[in-house]
Amino acid sequence: MPKQRVCRILKAGEDALREARAALLAGEVVAIPTETVYGLAADATNGPAVARIFESKQRPSFNPLICHVTGIAMAKRFASFDPLSRKLADAFWPGALTLVLPLRDDHAIHPLVTAGLDTVAVRAPQGFGAELIAAVGRPLAAPSANRSGRISPTTAQAVADSLGDAIPLVIDGGPTAVGVESTIVKVDGETVRLLRPGGVAAEEIEAVVGRSLVRAEANAAIQAPGMLASHYAPRAQMRLNADHVAPGEALLGFGPVRIAGANAAKEVLVLSEAADMKEAASNLFEFMSRLDAAGATTIAVEPIPSSGLGEAINDRLARAAAPRGEK
Ligand code: TXA
Ligand code: MG
Repeated sequence: MPKQRVCRILKAGEDALREARAALLAGEVVAIPTETVYGLAADATNGPAVARIFESKQRPSFNPLICHVTGIAMAKRFASFDPLSRKLADAFWPGALTLVLPLRDDHAIHPLVTAGLDTVAVRAPQGFGAELIAAVGRPLAAPSANRSGRISPTTAQAVADSLGDAIPLVIDGGPTAVGVESTIVKVDGETVRLLRPGGVAAEEIEAVVGRSLVRAEANAAIQAPGMLASHYAPRAQMRLNADHVAPGEALLGFGPVRIAGANAAKEVLVLSEAADMKEAASNLFEFMSRLDAAGATTIAVEPIPSSGLGEAINDRLARAAAPRGEK
């Protein structure tokens, strides 16, 4: 049965800002653009509002959400900064870096946001999101605005396609600039842990903190509970590091040269002909869903180097290729 689409899409601007602010203060959820991916936002201090996020996404409630702030001053109302986290916020905020910080005793963040943890993930986004948080005057909890387990949306239309029957309002800020979710790090004493590779490359973070990042061991699910099993899943199977295209497959390419069989592929999209990682990251989710929509049962993916933003790209591809759960 076709989905009923009832959500409205409003172009980012003064009217959208006013409407989104009013909706959020009334305890509604609103899908908003950020520089990474679209988020499904709610007032982080309002329990029923946050519960609406989980309900709309059909997200397991043990999975904690990121709190979005205007900057360090707002974050300090509910979280505490060690010197290294402070240095990272100074260097990368506003931007695609999320810090996991200890919650303050007197914080007003609803426990649904943190899934009962004594830490909170915090990020200051750019663009419309930043203006909206300032207008609301409160932190906004926002996971990616997709149904749980599906590809994160990088356009307003992708949000509407995934959640349109479950949410009232999507603000359209155009395609997102970064295209993959934020990098998540947590400072543990002298150690800086990379919990999720993302829009800020590990090398850039290492240059600021003057030490190597420690990668979370595989299956360290407790550190970043959202990093479970098959995530970012398209309907098609994904075949990574392909050296040829088999009959009937679609191809997700990278760089100037196509692999064998590419001209017989059901459809071909190239993340970046110039092998530019930024361009590839910004196209990743959109191209995965377009190839998925082309109806191929398998998407062959050309090898992509793992340096810089390639780490996040390969992480998302590996999750998309992982064996599926019940969903
Ligand atoms: O770019 C992004 O990060 C986007 C935009 C909307 O900001 N948001 C996003 O949120 O990707 P979400 O909910 O899809 O992913 C948040 C991740 C999850 O893997 C979750 O487990 C982790 O952050 N997380 C949240 N709170 C945490 C905490 N206290 N400790 C460790 N991990 C945490
Ligand atoms: Mg997500």
